[in-house]
Amino acid sequence: MKLLVYGAGVLGSLLAARMHDAGHDVALLARGERLACLRRHGIQLAEEDSPVIREVPVPVVENPAGGYDLIAVLVRAHQVDPVLESIAGLDGDVLFLHAWAAGAEPLGAVIGHERVLLGFPTGGGTMDGDVVRHRATSFVTRRVPMPIGEPGGLDSPRLQRIVRMFRTAGINAKAEPRMDAWLKTHAAMVVPLGQAVLAAGGPAALAGDPDAVRDMIRRLRQSLADLPTPPVPRGFAAVLTLPDAVLVPAIRRFLRSPTATHSGLSNTSPATEAAELERLADQLRAQKRAR
Ligand SMILES: NC(=O)c1ccc[n+]([C@@H]2O[C@H](COP(=O)([O-])OP(=O)(O)OC[C@H]3O[C@@H](n4cnc5c(N)ncnc54)[C@H](OP(=O)(O)O)[C@@H]3O)[C@@H](O)[C@H]2O)c1
Repeated sequence: MKLLVYGAGVLGSLLAARMHDAGHDVALLARGERLACLRRHGIQLAEEDSPVIREVPVPVVENPAGGYDLIAVLVRAHQVDPVLESIAGLDGDVLFLHAWAAGAEPLGAVIGHERVLLGFPTGGGTMDGDVVRHRATSFVTRRVPMPIGEPGGLDSPRLQRIVRMFRTAGINAKAEPRMDAWLKTHAAMVVPLGQAVLAAGGPAALAGDPDAVRDMIRRLRQSLADLPTPPVPRGFAAVLTLPDAVLVPAIRRFLRSPTATHSGLSNTSPATEAAELERLADQLRAQKRAR
């Protein structure tokens, strides 16, 4: 399968490196200084704070050209519109692997509804200059699946083919029949959490302020209650019923954990993070208004 990974930030770089390591025909699309750096060094990867940097020589392109069997888009939610324009005239299925709460409709309206698949990437990390510092994989993180779904929930042959392709590269992909509800649930959780982390100045700072954590949980419950469907995965509904006495310490522990430290919550570009959260909040508000 000829694969283009569109977006050479943390998770696009990680995905392209994994697929290249597994012997797949993959190219990574980058822009600006990132493009020049990738051409010089390849993708530079380091596990968490390790001084060891591994260079992965993935082919890099500036523009999508020709046909791909699959284009995997890994940009921020607020960066999607120009990407749609640039892939509208190409062939091939497109898997949007990023935070997104507006459903498949606005994506398909530009590139063709039949081309769209939705998903969400696994892994986590931050950019340290040109180096991608990614979370170490563990027994637990290997079990967290990367959900991918058809907009209508079908278990189609192409979905099975794509899931198989990622699984042969050691990525724990899984067909998810309720992908749109999954993404909306994620947005309903990540907007209050991410905005509280930004306001506090990082996950550890938020953990140190129990009142701010309580306020964040209140907004998170409201945001989940406003969803058009029950949360997906269903386990997140526990946030609506568990008492603060249980949730506050659990969330404070999570905010101090390596999982939070080595993730987008510790993003080195707060402006980008804030812009993505604002776009997701807009998408959630628009769907609430539409009901
Ligand atoms: N990082 C994490 O730990 C993590 C974990 C789970 C989910 N996520 C989600 O996964 C998605 C991707 O996250 P990320 O951390 O990989 O983001 P990121 O590091 O900000 O990467 C996005 C990349 O896309 C590039 N890009 C944007 N528009 C482009 C365009 N028109 N042409 C070419 N390149 C373009 C950006 O380039 P510029 O820098 O030039 O803008 C940047 O390199 C987000 O929705 C995020 O919320 C992230």
